[in-house]
Amino acid sequence: MNDILIRDAGNDDANGIAHVQVAGWLETYRGMISDSFLDKLLVEQRAGRWKQILSDPNDVYHRAFVAIKDGQIVGFANYGKEHSGDSDYLGELFAIYVLKEFQGQGIGRELVKHVAQGLLNQEVLSMLVWVLVANPYQQFYESLGGVYLREQTIVFEGESLYEKAYGWKDIRPLAGEMKG
Ligand SMILES: CC(C)(COP(=O)(O)OP(=O)(O)OC[C@H]1O[C@@H](n2cnc3c(N)ncnc32)[C@H](O)[C@@H]1OP(=O)(O)O)[C@@H](O)C(=O)NCCC(=O)NCCS
Repeated sequence: MNDILIRDAGNDDANGIAHVQVAGWLETYRGMISDSFLDKLLVEQRAGRWKQILSDPNDVYHRAFVAIKDGQIVGFANYGKEHSGDSDYLGELFAIYVLKEFQGQGIGRELVKHVAQGLLNQEVLSMLVWVLVANPYQQFYESLGGVYLREQTIVFEGESLYEKAYGWKDIRPLAGEMKG
């Protein structure tokens, strides 16, 4: 982790984030979501969407951290206020991806720590994350102290997908602060 820099994402990071996101989708979701969706994923298209998001401070997905190694983005985490109206969990980790060759080195944990600090800076004290029930990486959230909350079905590209939520009622320990 010593040679990894974590910083706020800016306008120029759209391509790097899109690259990590598309690589993560292809590596993780094959067999879980439709091949027709995965086969037509384009980094350029995602980068265009990220350019919009990163340049618009009012976009709900505007906030992100990137992990940089040797000048390249190798991971990112996207977060903000929970916007479905959950009364107990007011922040949300929307997405987190680390390139496969950099996984297992503590980068994901450090990104989540920054996200918790970012939410605390907005006076948000709790957080949830949604993960596909079939995603083999879900234990990552358990390792970070996330508590299973509930499941839901979403329709994505015409298919029903099953998601589960993990939550943290108090994100101060995640952010490296002591409970008050
Ligand atoms: C999930 C992900 C972000 C974790 O990042 P990472 O840098 O590999 O995780 P870390 O090295 O910081 O690991 C933190 C802890 O989680 C645990 N962990 C990480 N991945 C795990 C897995 N697949 N199964 C079990 N535990 C896991 C680690 O053992 C570690 O626990 P410890 O500190 O108690 O030893 C990354 O592996 C990834 O991008 N996966 C593919 C995309 C994905 O599924 N993202 C989540 C979408 S909701």
